[in-house]
Amino acid sequence: MADIQAVPHINFVITNMQTEHLDDLAEIEKLTFSRPWSYDALAEELQNPLAVFFVAKLPETGRAVGYLGMHHILNEGSISNIVVHPDYQRQGIASALMHKAIKYVKTNRLTRLTLEVRVSNTPAIALYKRFGFECDGIRPGFYDSPKEDAAIYSLYF
Ligand SMILES: CC(C)(COP(=O)(O)OP(=O)(O)OC[C@H]1O[C@@H](n2cnc3c(N)ncnc32)[C@H](O)[C@@H]1OP(=O)(O)O)[C@@H](O)C(=O)NCCC(=O)NCCS
Repeated sequence: MADIQAVPHINFVITNMQTEHLDDLAEIEKLTFSRPWSYDALAEELQNPLAVFFVAKLPETGRAVGYLGMHHILNEGSISNIVVHPDYQRQGIASALMHKAIKYVKTNRLTRLTLEVRVSNTPAIALYKRFGFECDGIRPGFYDSPKEDAAIYSLYF
């Protein structure tokens, strides 16, 4: 895996997801995705023992500007969400969230970190490749709105 060092341009901290972040995160979801996760869907993850969700927040205001959601299933981590508010992208936030997830994976001795991504999502794929993820295969027609293939990317430990 490449040794990626995030170089943050703004001041943010990474923390575990809590109820106080959910309004901001649901708003970012709405701004970003055609099928956004709702406040309630995010809130359910706070009760899910398999969920490992990290949030990037601004220390001055507590505003949440991005998050990474992962599910710890047996010896694998499956990333279900990674998103950064459009106004805060390209400042190392997703990289910092990914570092945190990888630290969790190593600490808990998981053997694989995996995710699905739209094949057209060049920014996300560039991020995953920087961290050493490799494409395992394609799930044809996996996504709706619009219909699109998913690429499966994995990082092995
Ligand atoms: C993908 C996403 C999470 C990246 O967040 P970010 O905080 O901007 O990412 P970072 O600043 O940590 O970028 C790290 C690297 O990823 C790659 N990258 C990020 N955005 C990119 C873009 N728009 N174009 C090309 N490469 C990009 C670059 O290699 C970048 O390093 P660099 O800035 O030194 O060139 C963000 O673009 C996003 O929220 N997109 C919408 C949601 C989404 O598609 N999520 C993935 C679903 S599978």
